[in-house]
Amino acid sequence: MKRIAFFDAKTYDEEFFNRYNKNYKIKYFESKLNQDTAYLAKGAVGVIAFVNDEINATTIDKLHKLGVKIIALRSAGYNNVDIRAAYQKITVVRVPSYSPEAVAEHTMALLLNLNRKIHKAYSRTRDFNFSLHSLLGFKMHGKTVGIIGTGKIGRAFANICKGFGMKILAYDLYPSSEDLEYVSLERLFRESDIISLHCPLTEETKHLIDENSLNMMKDGVYILNTSRGALIDSQALLAALKSRKVSGAGLDVYEEETEIFYEDYSDMIIDDDTLALLVSLPNVIITSHQAFFTKEALETIAQTTLTNLDSFFLGEDLENEICYLCREGEDALKCRKNRKRCF
Ligand code: NAI
Repeated sequence: MKRIAFFDAKTYDEEFFNRYNKNYKIKYFESKLNQDTAYLAKGAVGVIAFVNDEINATTIDKLHKLGVKIIALRSAGYNNVDIRAAYQKITVVRVPSYSPEAVAEHTMALLLNLNRKIHKAYSRTRDFNFSLHSLLGFKMHGKTVGIIGTGKIGRAFANICKGFGMKILAYDLYPSSEDLEYVSLERLFRESDIISLHCPLTEETKHLIDENSLNMMKDGVYILNTSRGALIDSQALLAALKSRKVSGAGLDVYEEETEIFYEDYSDMIIDDDTLALLVSLPNVIITSHQAFFTKEALETIAQTTLTNLDSFFLGEDLENEICYLCREGEDALKCRKNRKRCF
């Protein structure tokens, strides 16, 4: 049986992968994959990695030297992989869509909680405090929500917002939904009551929300990010929350989450002052990159990852391969138009 090294493994990962795995000897490691832990893949022909693994050029070189042929990401986003460095060395595959609706539903859960202060009401009534002071919300029906990135998740979130009777302004490099009103980024920033981020993290989108864009926004705007942390300049967001420019932020991702999210630091003092301050604000809700975390998504992740490995080792067409020549949107998969593989 081919050996596969599985990084950043949690008990729920093992449960779902063991349920569907028939063809591989999988060794589960709690460690995240990075240049210091790559050696753990010795003897493996493939690795399975996740969103906070640091798969930079050095990690890739080390894996390559160990004989690893494929990196199977059990995520949709791949900003943590240096795909240019991997090109012609190690094939990279991903799970492009495991539950866009789950991520969209979590985004709406963050907004509903922030708006109606459910997180505060919950702890208050448990203490038999039934007062309504400081729990005042706003009606969402009729409000304008700006959606940046209208791919699978952004589109699913737009559908939910439509159900709430909200007005939608959309921005995407490749507008694809005829029933959405696409506007310039600047107009979206200026006119939205709520802004939700659903585009990938790229060099272009890094710190899309910064001091400059925050200044363009309406006073009292709400910001939601269930995409990738570095889309937001956290310092700028913190300043805007403190100045009351931003009325609330629902964050499932954080730019410095790599060492922190998915771990229990409840009996320690964390060194990240920005995160500590964000967590301390009553109008900020942070969840630990859990928007995808449904049983349906874990099933799809396990099944698709194992199918990706099967297709690779059987020499079949690799539907979910990514490489640096493949681009989002219109150019996607152009580089292997007449081939089964990118290289
Ligand atoms: P997708 O590929 O279906 O959609 C992304 C959209 O963003 C596309 O329409 C694309 O044209 C657009 N886009 C690309 N560059 C852009 C730019 N510079 N400005 C505006 N739009 C741009 O991806 P999907 O499945 O909707 O996922 C979106 C993001 O959600 C992923 O990149 C990932 O980072 C994040 N994600 C988060 C999860 C979580 O648990 N919090 C789970 C899964 C994905």
